[in-house]
Amino acid sequence: MKRIYSSHWSDYELIDAGNNKKLERWGNVITIRPERNAYFSPILSNQEWKQKAHFEFMEETSSKGFWKTLKQNTPKEWQINYKNCVFNLRLTNFKHIGIFPEQQTNWDFIKNHIQEGNKFLNLFAYTGGASLIANSIGADVFHCDSIKQIISWSKENMENSNQSDIHWVLDDALKFTTREVKREKKYDGIIMDPPAFGLGAKKERWKIETKFPELVQIASQLLSQNGFLIINTYSPKLKEEEIQTIVREYFSTKKIEINKLSLKTTTGKIVEYGELTRVY
Ligand SMILES: C[S@@+](CC[C@H](N)C(=O)[O-])C[C@H]1O[C@@H](n2cnc3c(N)ncnc32)[C@H](O)[C@@H]1O
Repeated sequence: MKRIYSSHWSDYELIDAGNNKKLERWGNVITIRPERNAYFSPILSNQEWKQKAHFEFMEETSSKGFWKTLKQNTPKEWQINYKNCVFNLRLTNFKHIGIFPEQQTNWDFIKNHIQEGNKFLNLFAYTGGASLIANSIGADVFHCDSIKQIISWSKENMENSNQSDIHWVLDDALKFTTREVKREKKYDGIIMDPPAFGLGAKKERWKIETKFPELVQIASQLLSQNGFLIINTYSPKLKEEEIQTIVREYFSTKKIEINKLSLKTTTGKIVEYGELTRVY
């Protein structure tokens, strides 16, 4: 499978990766975080990593942990920019800090494919990277996430970016989109970044490999004739052939591209972030 690379930008750099960790710079702050796809050896030594980093995430369970401070007096909340968008970053005990930088290639794709006045839907939208990009072009943006604090965080980002008028949808993505289908709504662009494991409307556990066909079907009902769809999936159980078959079933006339979403470290290593499907 081909790879598609996201780029570093002035406020983000994937410095090095290896030994199931990654060393990243966010503005002036450098972190060490777990990364299961960095199964190779890093280029820089452990000592070099520790000398550079301000914080290291220590895993307690597969999804939770705490941040160890490696350089005292570093603020635990700060901001970075991507083009005209401003993101508040903070250390969470889920190892994330408020942005998924591997999405950079999708932000550029959205910029190139969305037009002023288009309707854009961001599902599983997190802190709103894709929403801010589409909104900055003048699209009518609907941003759906099921966690209240995450929606509040996205609002902070919108305000700090001097933007307004994003429609916030605090709901389960499948529940909301099922209602939108009934209301015969159409979108010119849809992006979804579902977690590999998630909680549904009734707090039931689900896995992306079982929900994927339903998500694609709903997207096919919501997408306008000339619209585009972007889906990120992070599951070794959902392989390219299966994605291709399901997506082809619902989008028989459109161009379908499936790539491995990737980032290259400054030291030259490649980290993969699952499958990126684009339909347009
Ligand atoms: C992997 S993150 C998305 C990252 C985001 N696309 C980005 O690049 O910034 C997954 C998001 O989905 C949300 N989420 C999880 N289950 C959900 C559900 N059933 N409905 C809507 N949002 C959900 C989480 O709150 C989280 O913000």
